[in-house]
Amino acid sequence: MRMIRRRTRTRAGGAGPRTRGRLRAALGATTTALLTVTALAALPQTTAHAADTLGAAAAGQGRYFGAAVAANHLGEAQYVATLDREFTSVTAENEMKWDALEPSRGSFSFSRADQIFDHAKSRGMDVRGHTLVWHSQLPGWVSGLGASDLRSAMNNHITQVMTHYKGEIHSWDVVNEAFQDGNSGARRSSPFQDKLGNGFIEEAFRTARAADPDAKLCYNDYNTDGVNAKSNAVYTMVRDFKSRGVPIDCVGFQSHFNPNSPVPSDYRANLQRFADLGVDVQITELDIEGSGQAQATDYGNVVRACLAVTRCTGITVWGIPDKYSWRSSGTPLLFDDNYNKKPAYDAVLSALGGTPGGGDPGGPGDPDAACTATYSTAEQWSGGYNGKVTITAGSAPITGWSVNVTMTPPQKVLTVWNGSPTWDSGGNVMTVRPSWNGSLAAGASTSFGFTVNGGTAPPPQVSACTAS
Ligand code: XIL
Repeated sequence: MRMIRRRTRTRAGGAGPRTRGRLRAALGATTTALLTVTALAALPQTTAHAADTLGAAAAGQGRYFGAAVAANHLGEAQYVATLDREFTSVTAENEMKWDALEPSRGSFSFSRADQIFDHAKSRGMDVRGHTLVWHSQLPGWVSGLGASDLRSAMNNHITQVMTHYKGEIHSWDVVNEAFQDGNSGARRSSPFQDKLGNGFIEEAFRTARAADPDAKLCYNDYNTDGVNAKSNAVYTMVRDFKSRGVPIDCVGFQSHFNPNSPVPSDYRANLQRFADLGVDVQITELDIEGSGQAQATDYGNVVRACLAVTRCTGITVWGIPDKYSWRSSGTPLLFDDNYNKKPAYDAVLSALGGTPGGGDPGGPGDPDAACTATYSTAEQWSGGYNGKVTITAGSAPITGWSVNVTMTPPQKVLTVWNGSPTWDSGGNVMTVRPSWNGSLAAGASTSFGFTVNGGTAPPPQVSACTAS
């Protein structure tokens, strides 16, 4: 079993909760050990550093900066390096949709979605859930159901999926794209709308709140970015939900722009009027077809609009390099096919208050790379214990770290996980470097663990963390 922070295995084939109770209990038990050894742990090494990644700059503005991620690219080193360096939030591009998670009734398959979830969590990123109830990427069996079966299938899908990730997803798109384009302001025809009527949206939100009270519940749509008939219809629904106490916390604005559907001039005003209803707003699927300075200007305007709205809590771009965009011919993203930063990237970073070109993204010799190491005793028994060292990157991303752990004889380390040890000739000092977990976004953490026998005191001495 991989030892990843905050991760417990799900029941085979089931949709059981990723239990956090065990983690809380363990943290309670280790608090004393953590406090007593703090003096031995490294003091944070801080380096003044102008934010030079999207995630760090957005964090400076109190926002997240996310990307849509596809599981099938997670084996590509440059893709992962760019993701880990730049982003603080992840949305599964397709892997959390109904057809992916419940392809046949009652049979859930979370493995692709979990790959993305685990990657994000192991690097300290947040996860946006996308999406529970949507007419598209909906398996055929759902459309074939009669009304009462459809109602229970919808509620069961929401409950099972949200329970699987309970407490771990910062926002869920509960209902996606339920309104028609154009001037009608009407609901879009879908199995849910056609068989359950207008009330399906409210029912989905109530079910979602019961399934995971910690997740922010969003309504998400496109062509609602400016003030128009469609966004007016969504606005009226959200206002009604808020007045009747239907649980809704946020509205997502997909923000897929191109020359036929440019960034609206009233984008900020539209975000603001929704925020004024008492919900957060999020830019959930941003991409802007185009190139060069024109594209850069549009991106900068979108970011500035979000920053001007206090309740605009974060921005997600719908992919990383242009070549993997769902609309790749329009080159709508921030990185070109070789992961070079485009002018649009610099515009976004500047709008976020960061410094384009203000430092390399970590790597050996980067003067801005820094990390801290904190020791705690995880479990203890007569004659031995499991130690844990948490490594946290400073204000710049890092690509590697190393820490010395000194044991007092006769204590000996039996085994190390999530880290690669080498030993000094005396056998008392081990230098631990990453096994798979060397790349950390700014402020993100990982940990390694080790088992010791030959006594329980004193605890090991952990040196300052060295970052690269
Ligand atoms: C898109 C994905 O990017 C594609 O890979 C997939 O083939 C179709 O769906 N609105 C949404 C997203 O809410 O889920 C869509 O994602 C893009 C439009």
